[in-house]
Amino acid sequence: MRVNKQLAIVFLVTVFVMVACGGGYLTDTRSAEYVVDSGVGMGKRWVDTRAVAAELSAENLIDDGIHDPSNDAIAVLQEPREAMGAFPLDRSGAVDWGKALELGIINPRADIEGKAEMVVMNMDVTLKETGDMPWVKFTHTAHTKWLGCDTCHSGIFISKIGANEISMDNIFAGEQCGRCHGSVAFGLVVCERCHNTPQDNTASGGSTTTTGQ
Ligand code: HEC
Ligand code: HEC
Ligand code: HEC
Repeated sequence: MRVNKQLAIVFLVTVFVMVACGGGYLTDTRSAEYVVDSGVGMGKRWVDTRAVAAELSAENLIDDGIHDPSNDAIAVLQEPREAMGAFPLDRSGAVDWGKALELGIINPRADIEGKAEMVVMNMDVTLKETGDMPWVKFTHTAHTKWLGCDTCHSGIFISKIGANEISMDNIFAGEQCGRCHGSVAFGLVVCERCHNTPQDNTASGGSTTTTGQ
C-alpha cells in the first residue's frame, strides 16, 4: 500500500513538472500562431485549439423555412441529421465537405449525366494581408474539385495573384470569398478554416519564430 502511495506521489509530481515545463504555450505572445482573441484558449496555439463539433448543426426540415410543413411529402424526405449526422464536421457543426470528399463519403458528378470530369488545378495562393491572424492558404485544388474556373474568374477574382485587394470587410459584405462562404460553403465564424497557415516571420526577414514548438 505504502509503495503504491509513494508511486502515486511520484507520478503526480512528474505530471506536475511535465505540465509546468510543457507550458510554453501559456505565454502572452500574440503572434499569429496564437489565438488572437481573448477568452477561452487565449494564448494557446491556434493549431491546438481547433476543434470539431460533436453534432451536426441542422434544422429539421419542418422548421428550416425552406420546406412546406403543410405538404405531406415532407414525411418522405430524409432529415439532414439522418443523412449527414455521421459526416465529418467543423467547429460550427457544419459538414466539412472537403474532408467528406477526401474520405470518399461523397462522390459528386461534374455534370448531370455523370460523364464529364472536373478540371482540378493544383495551385495554392497564400494570402498574407491578415494582420495578426494566421495567413490564408487558398487552395485551387479544394475549389476546382467542385467549381469550374469561370465560377470565379474573372467575375469574382481577377486571375492574377495580388490583383484583388481581398479584405474581411468585403468578405463579410458577401463579396469575394463571401460570395460563397457563409451561404453555400462553410461559414465565416470558423476563422481557422481559412486562416489555416501560421505566419512565417522568416519570410519577411524578421527574427525566427520558435513560439511553442
Ligand atoms: C473559388 C474561386 C476560384 C476558382 C474556382 C478558381 N480560382 Fe484561380 N484564383 C482564385 C483566387 C482567390 C486567386 C488569387 C487572387 C489574388 O491573389 O488576388 C486565383 C488566382 C489564379 C491565377 C493567378 C496565378 C498567378 O500566378 O498570378 C490563375 C492563373 C488562376 N487562378 C487560374 C485558375 C484556373 C485555371 C482555374 C480553374 C481550373 C481557377 N483559377 C479556378 C480563385 C479561384
Ligand atoms: C472564407 C475565408 C475566411 C474566413 C472564414 C475568415 N477570413 Fe479573415 N481573411 C480572409 C482573406 C482571404 C483575407 C485577406 C488576405 C489577403 O488579402 O492577403 C482575410 C483577412 C483578414 C484580416 C486582415 C484585415 C482585413 O480586414 O482584411 C483579419 C484581421 C481577419 N481576416 C480576421 C478574421 C477573423 C477574426 C475571422 C473569423 C471571425 C476571419 N478572418 C474569417 C479569409 C477569411
Ligand atoms: C464560388 C464559390 C466560392 C468562392 C468564391 C470561394 N470559395 Fe472556398 N469553398 C467553396 C466550396 C463550395 C468549398 C467546399 C465546401 C465547403 O467546404 O463548405 C470551399 C472550401 C474552401 C476551403 C476548405 C478547403 C478544404 O481543404 O477543405 C477553404 C480553406 C476555402 N474554401 C477558402 C476560401 C477563400 C480564402 C476564398 C477567397 C479567397 C474562397 N474560399 C472563395 C466555394 C467558394
